[in-house]
Amino acid sequence: MKRKVTKAIFPVAGLGTRFLPATKSIPKEIMTLVDRPLIQYAIDEARAAGIKEFIFVTSRGKSALEDYFDAAPLVEAELRKKGKKDLLELLKMTNMESGAIAYIRQQKAMGLGHAVWCARRLIGDEPFAVILPDDVIAAEKPCLQQMVEAYGETGGNIVAAMEVAPEKASAYGVLDIKEDMGSIVHVKGMVEKPKAAEAPSNLAVIGRYILTPNVMENLNKRKTGAGGEIQLTDAIAAEIKASGNVYGYRFRGQRFDCGSKAGFLQATVAFGLARDDLRDEFASFLSEMMTVRKAAE
Ligand code: G1P
Repeated sequence: MKRKVTKAIFPVAGLGTRFLPATKSIPKEIMTLVDRPLIQYAIDEARAAGIKEFIFVTSRGKSALEDYFDAAPLVEAELRKKGKKDLLELLKMTNMESGAIAYIRQQKAMGLGHAVWCARRLIGDEPFAVILPDDVIAAEKPCLQQMVEAYGETGGNIVAAMEVAPEKASAYGVLDIKEDMGSIVHVKGMVEKPKAAEAPSNLAVIGRYILTPNVMENLNKRKTGAGGEIQLTDAIAAEIKASGNVYGYRFRGQRFDCGSKAGFLQATVAFGLARDDLRDEFASFLSEMMTVRKAAE
């Protein structure tokens, strides 16, 4: 029987240098899309997929993340005094049941695989999810929930996948397809950041994973790969040889690369336009901006 996935790892140890100077004093994951930090979108998605235990792999300078998911007695008391029930209600999304959230520090940046490995004792012998909060996915049914449903059919290891422009493939983990079944793809190889000429396809790995405890064991070997880092992709690829149990999942939804400035801006526009309270004003501002820009050309 397939075991339920109830634990998720959120690797959030990165320095976020692409967003300096902002990330000099705030973690990248606290940067906001409209009015919620990136990490909130990741947590909401995990909750929708049935995750009950949230494991953050952090580093020095990330304490704002811990505060975000803690109670805020001063703010809450003030809101209560002023009768601001709607704002008190809104804060509930940041509440975590005691013991549901854990923080582990990755002392040295040694790659995504190493970050995931840091959580091994909390994962034990269970399947687990990994969510990279930089990849924000707007979807009717949250992406990880779609994957949990697909996992119900396949079991094993599933990675979110998306077709990218061939010249962009070398920025990703890339799948070598054994059998294409539409939304589910059976995988026969995986390469992290392949050279343009060596990419086995243009089906790229996006930051959502459901993995077996075997992958954690593979990470125990701490083998370095692309960029001299311990790569999660390599530990998953090792499972192809060992069990053949690796699948790609073409999710339904739009992915934004919030690890890049352009992607973050695009997500801001998309999420702003998706909001009932902002749409009209924001849309007319955007079209005005476009008209001004066209006129200037
Ligand atoms: C990581 C993974 C890569 C994946 C990507 C998705 O790379 O190593 O396999 O395709 O996330 O966003 P990073 O973007 O951290 O370099």
